[in-house]
Amino acid sequence: MAKYEAVEVFEKYIHKIDKFVDILNFNKLLFYSFSIQIRNHNMKKYFLFGIVPGLILSACSSINPVSESRLKNEVIPLPVEIHAFDNYLKINDRAEIVGKNKDEILAATTLKSILSTYGISANIVANPTDESNIFFTSNAKIDSLGNEGYKLTVNQQGVSIVANKGAGLFYAVQTIRQLIEKDNKIVKIQYCNIYDKPLYKWRGLHLDVSRHFFDIKFIKKYIDNMSKYKLNTFHWHLTDDQGWRIEIKKYPKLVTIGSKRSETVIEKNFNPFIGDGVPYEGFYTQEQIKEVVKFAEQRYVTIVPEIEMPGHSQAALAAYPEYSCTGESCKVLTKWGITDNIYCPYEKTFTFLQNILDEVMELFPSEYIHIGGDEVPKTQWKKSDFCQELIKKENLKDENGLQSYFIGRIEQYLNSKGRYIVGWDEILEGGLAPNATVMSWRGEKGGIAAANAGHNVVMTPGFAMYFDHYQANPKYEPFAIGGFTPLKTVYDYNPMPKEISIDKQKYVIGVQANVWTEYMKSSQQVEYMVYPRLLALSEIAWVKPGQKDWNGFQKRLPNNFMLLEKYGINFRLPEPEIKYTIINENEFSLNIYSSVPNAKIYYSSDGSKPGNNSKLFKSELKMSLPDSIIAIKAIIQLPDGRQSNYTEQKVEKPL
Ligand code: ACM
Repeated sequence: MAKYEAVEVFEKYIHKIDKFVDILNFNKLLFYSFSIQIRNHNMKKYFLFGIVPGLILSACSSINPVSESRLKNEVIPLPVEIHAFDNYLKINDRAEIVGKNKDEILAATTLKSILSTYGISANIVANPTDESNIFFTSNAKIDSLGNEGYKLTVNQQGVSIVANKGAGLFYAVQTIRQLIEKDNKIVKIQYCNIYDKPLYKWRGLHLDVSRHFFDIKFIKKYIDNMSKYKLNTFHWHLTDDQGWRIEIKKYPKLVTIGSKRSETVIEKNFNPFIGDGVPYEGFYTQEQIKEVVKFAEQRYVTIVPEIEMPGHSQAALAAYPEYSCTGESCKVLTKWGITDNIYCPYEKTFTFLQNILDEVMELFPSEYIHIGGDEVPKTQWKKSDFCQELIKKENLKDENGLQSYFIGRIEQYLNSKGRYIVGWDEILEGGLAPNATVMSWRGEKGGIAAANAGHNVVMTPGFAMYFDHYQANPKYEPFAIGGFTPLKTVYDYNPMPKEISIDKQKYVIGVQANVWTEYMKSSQQVEYMVYPRLLALSEIAWVKPGQKDWNGFQKRLPNNFMLLEKYGINFRLPEPEIKYTIINENEFSLNIYSSVPNAKIYYSSDGSKPGNNSKLFKSELKMSLPDSIIAIKAIIQLPDGRQSNYTEQKVEKPL
């Protein structure tokens, strides 16, 4: 029996096992399992020690449900099906990973490096030996798993991971990453059978590197961490009015001039302008970009580069003003917002942009190239004789029609090279280019219209998917652009609007969060805004809405907060929760909870702001109830000293 056939039997069987429970008994199962012929010698050990015990374990649990339990370390995003058992595989003494082909070896290497962070050094071998206890199998040919799904079995004989493609193996490793526990120096993984695959194909995260620049070390960290939560598309917003960030060899001034601005506006002091007086610059060389693309590929992350046009292009026009309608020289913008200075649809402008896109396509293998298309004031086009003539010549309705013509020309060019365009939802205005994918950001309307018209859509509406918005009360948060998008709003978002008819739902290819960095000067601040909201994004991109569960998600956060801390991510610390019970007219009991396992809780009851000079909360305590209202305030603090905002609870004597 070929390897995949055995796996196919396994998959069908495990999947149906609960339904068979009434008619199956343990002996029948055993007979069934062993009656499968094994001809492939290498498969034998894998089959006998990996799959059969998995089946037996499953059968036992079905027969005796007492042995089945919840996963202790629960996983984000929530897998489609989990069967967990009250036992653990210890992997202290040995870790030998079997991986033969390129995909298996990549997954094995990823797992080896995760295990090394727990002090375990693993071998990777091509063929199973008696020491092998972690088995990767790609090319499983299990239709239901698609390109990114996987099956994971952990039992007394080891760990078995089965997928059709490398991405599935990689995601299984990311699940294992969350399942590993270290308890008194023992490294272990709970027994389980997991079947899993994503809901959406585009699970995106964006980063604006124009408003503020982030070096490749951080870009890699950003990509690495998003891949840990099974996000697979990094939308790299490389150009905008405030800085051009990608080296283009044919047009060197794009970086010598376009990547530099003289200063940056302070907060929102646009008018009158108050700048910080500090020159700002940064760009990525093509060599650096190649390195990042390769790094992302190893994590099954596709990078979709964005080259903005026809608006948000002042940094490029500062370098090459001849491509604007006025031809006047201008400066890289020093403040945020929208500018009238945009590309003019001259033939020479299309040549310029096509030459740029040639270099971009050479660097980025992604089938999608983002061409912007948002926030394009038509002021200059209205005043330009050239544009007005072109509108007539091309029989266009107006300047919106001209924008469509512009985007359509670029689409034609990219399509001729085998690539597809993605654009912000303004590309709908004046008519959508035939093969364009729409990113719906001004709410869901654009996405609904585009999907109903048979265009692919990525949902990224501002009200739920803009991670530059405040995630808590602005009074206590670092300065941000505005809005209010707390964790729950992200979690509650369903990327499939009900206005999209059932037959058109296939056009919603995914969901993405955007990270505009006007008010994020440092990578630390980017992480603060992205985490933990990224965890909620990961779940809505992976899990069917019917399976989502806010309470369950919250219970799965603590393990992940520990991991975020382990990975050195500056996530926003959630405030502790204060609870109290009145015992009698003179006393109440106080409890304070934190969802961050490593954090200490400090509290005050005298009105002062709590800090690490305040009282340390250890466990439930009795406090006396004064005649006046008493305000309990509490914070959490990580071992590195980082503190949350405080939360407050008033306690009042009952009447
Ligand atoms: C956007 O936020 N201007 C797409």
